[in-house]
Amino acid sequence: MGKSRRTAAIDIGTTKVACVVAETDSAKKTTIVGYGTAPPAGFKQGVVVDLDKATESMGSAVSLAEEMAGGKVKTYRTFVGINGDHIKHLSGIGAVPVRKPAKGIGTRDLEDVIKQAQTIRLPNDEQILHVIPTQFIVDGQKGVRKPLELFGVRLEVEALLIIGAVTAIENIHRVLERLDIKNRFLVLQSLACSFAVCSEDDKEMGCALVDLGGVTDFCICREGEIRFTKVLGVGANNITKDVAIGLRTTFSQAEKVKREHGVAMASMVKKDEAVKIDDASGRGTKQVSRRLLASVIEPRMEEILNLVNSEIHNSGMAEGLSAGVILTGGGSMLEGVDVLAEQVLGMPVKIGRPDRLAGPKEVINNPAFATAVGLIHYGIEGRYFYEMPPAGAWERFCEEVKGWFS
Ligand SMILES: Nc1ncnc2c1ncn2[C@@H]1O[C@H](COP(=O)(O)OP(=O)(O)OP(=O)(O)O)[C@@H](O)[C@H]1O
Ligand SMILES: [Mg+2]
Repeated sequence: MGKSRRTAAIDIGTTKVACVVAETDSAKKTTIVGYGTAPPAGFKQGVVVDLDKATESMGSAVSLAEEMAGGKVKTYRTFVGINGDHIKHLSGIGAVPVRKPAKGIGTRDLEDVIKQAQTIRLPNDEQILHVIPTQFIVDGQKGVRKPLELFGVRLEVEALLIIGAVTAIENIHRVLERLDIKNRFLVLQSLACSFAVCSEDDKEMGCALVDLGGVTDFCICREGEIRFTKVLGVGANNITKDVAIGLRTTFSQAEKVKREHGVAMASMVKKDEAVKIDDASGRGTKQVSRRLLASVIEPRMEEILNLVNSEIHNSGMAEGLSAGVILTGGGSMLEGVDVLAEQVLGMPVKIGRPDRLAGPKEVINNPAFATAVGLIHYGIEGRYFYEMPPAGAWERFCEEVKGWFS
């Protein structure tokens, strides 16, 4: 029996911090062996606003996962999801002469061209998080996916550069440093998420991945790679706020009633269905019509989906999405959301569950864990993505690149 290897993931969501530990055995089967969640105190929309509280909340999600997994996260490679409205993307290009054309394109040529694609002028407060090659071009031949060992004298790359704010990135590193998690990689959440819920075919044929979390993030994959990413300011959290106002109850009661009885379309509910909720004072209960609940949810959900629709069209990639739309994140568990989404988006819609690994059903059947499980997939399979290493670890990164292509 060979050795098994563990990988950890930490997803800093707007409604929860989640930690997942996975174990890959010698037969390359990966199983989730631990998980934990905690409220995201100290984070505001994924960005650290209070270092002590952020460390405490991430620490408690990590401790719960460690307890279940029977091991320490700091001893595993840890992939940490990053998000926020500071994230943006640009395109980068690079071109280099191949060092030894007769021997074929080597890893050093790849490193050179990828480095070149990053030589863009960025403001001092921004840094590159990922360099995702969208295509390589070998002696003018476009569309090359794996250039290694191909014959050619000139190697070019077109890449999507994912950029984030230095402060936001650095502060997440501070929290991880305090938790002594050193072997860490920051990964864009939607990129990670696409690994858990989009199949190779979906990515190849073209799909839009919509993560209906506390806020909504969204990305487009085409020809096998992520091509566009965007965080929208509104999400399932706004639905809860609307329900609290509309039904005159507390946020926590609204959250409960939304999860248990919420429906995305009022027309899906019979006229006489009623649900019981606590009133805002917390002293008594009252009956409300389930159709009323749905009629509070529907316009907000419609607004979110309309925003997604505009973004899909603004991206200029709407035509190429043959695999349709994949909804994931906690909000995708709302009854009827797929039906409403098909109406608004005019495309086939499916719900993405992170069920490609083995593990407890609370995780693998749960779209709210799509990003955390995606981070694990990214960690164990993300071979063609060039994540930026922690500061000063360029050499380690180069070693990794060699491993990916060997
Ligand atoms: N069964 C359910 N029905 C409807 N909504 C649900 C259900 N379960 C969770 N949600 C909603 O999903 C949202 C949280 O989703 P998720 O856990 O994916 O968000 P997050 O990862 O914390 O946030 P984000 O990804 O936006 O940063 C909440 O608004 C919650 O109300
Ligand atoms: Mg999330």
